[in-house]
Amino acid sequence: MRTIEWDPKGTVKMIDQRKLPLEFVVVEFDDYRDVARAIRDMYIRGAPAIGAAAAYAMALAAGQSGATTSESLLADLRTAADVLGATRPTAVNLFWALNRMLRAAQGSQAPDVKGMVADLIEEAKQIAEEDIEINRRMGAYGAALVEDGDNILTHCNAGALATVDYGTALAVIRTAHEQAKRIHVWVDETRPRLQGARLTAWELMNEGIPMTLIADNVAGHLMRTGKVDIIFVGSDRTAANGDVANKIGTYKLAVLAKENGIPFYPVVPTSTIDLSVPTGDDIPIEERSAREVTHPGGCQVAPDGVQVLNVAFDVTPHRYVTGIVTENGIAYPPFTRSLRQMVEA
Ligand code: MRU
Repeated sequence: MRTIEWDPKGTVKMIDQRKLPLEFVVVEFDDYRDVARAIRDMYIRGAPAIGAAAAYAMALAAGQSGATTSESLLADLRTAADVLGATRPTAVNLFWALNRMLRAAQGSQAPDVKGMVADLIEEAKQIAEEDIEINRRMGAYGAALVEDGDNILTHCNAGALATVDYGTALAVIRTAHEQAKRIHVWVDETRPRLQGARLTAWELMNEGIPMTLIADNVAGHLMRTGKVDIIFVGSDRTAANGDVANKIGTYKLAVLAKENGIPFYPVVPTSTIDLSVPTGDDIPIEERSAREVTHPGGCQVAPDGVQVLNVAFDVTPHRYVTGIVTENGIAYPPFTRSLRQMVEA
């Protein structure tokens, strides 16, 4: 199944990613507040998947609303958007999807509230369909950068599970594999939540794409010893100047890549490009609970009461970015111009 789906009986189904790879569990929600909790607690994660979840949650909110006029439905939707918008601050796809759903409600030509609800369900489904189509296009552009025999390094999970299907960085890897290029992928485990070890490894192994899991600290050694040819990662928000916010640890990879002459490409749908933030310094960075660091996988690894800083994302300044793969082509420096062109294309 897809990462997230609308069920015709009016519910949202999603894979509970907290349980992977040990258990494949699908959860079902009929209340938008439960979807908000699922986003915050990372049943579903990854910027485009968070956007799709938010869109479906808005469709649920419309169905749940007892409104009899378009004005009161809009008021209920704004309340839902506030609840959903408070879940995870860095992934801009969340706010992009909420705004798109609010615009769809405002622009609906339906004669009554029932028709508006139907329009909102269609809009959410459309967002999900577009996501897959966009990922396939990014896969095609990005795969042109991959040579036969390449060793590719990736971080976190920018795969099917981070999107509705197919992935962003993993779309490039999937496409290169489908083109019969003989590739091998180094997968960073990605502390503290281990999205690389749990999710990316699971996805690549399911598809038979050759891969090796590494502890995060191994990447520098591999780069210095010539074992990495190219790096593809995702992004949660990319600023107008090409600074890229992504999973904590991405910045360190990009600096080491430049030092070792290795191309570094974030793979970023235009819904993740936020032209309203001039630089990465303006991107809100999420901090999460200490428990994620002290109890990885539920197992305590640090003393009781230890002080912890758990920053979930970092910003890679654009000078370390070789190019940014989008669904409209690959943006190269100067990013201020090229990213705008990609967004407006
Ligand atoms: O905290 P997460 O798991 O939501 O972080 C996900 C990432 O950092 C991904 O790289 C990013 O969302 C891009 S996914 C296509």
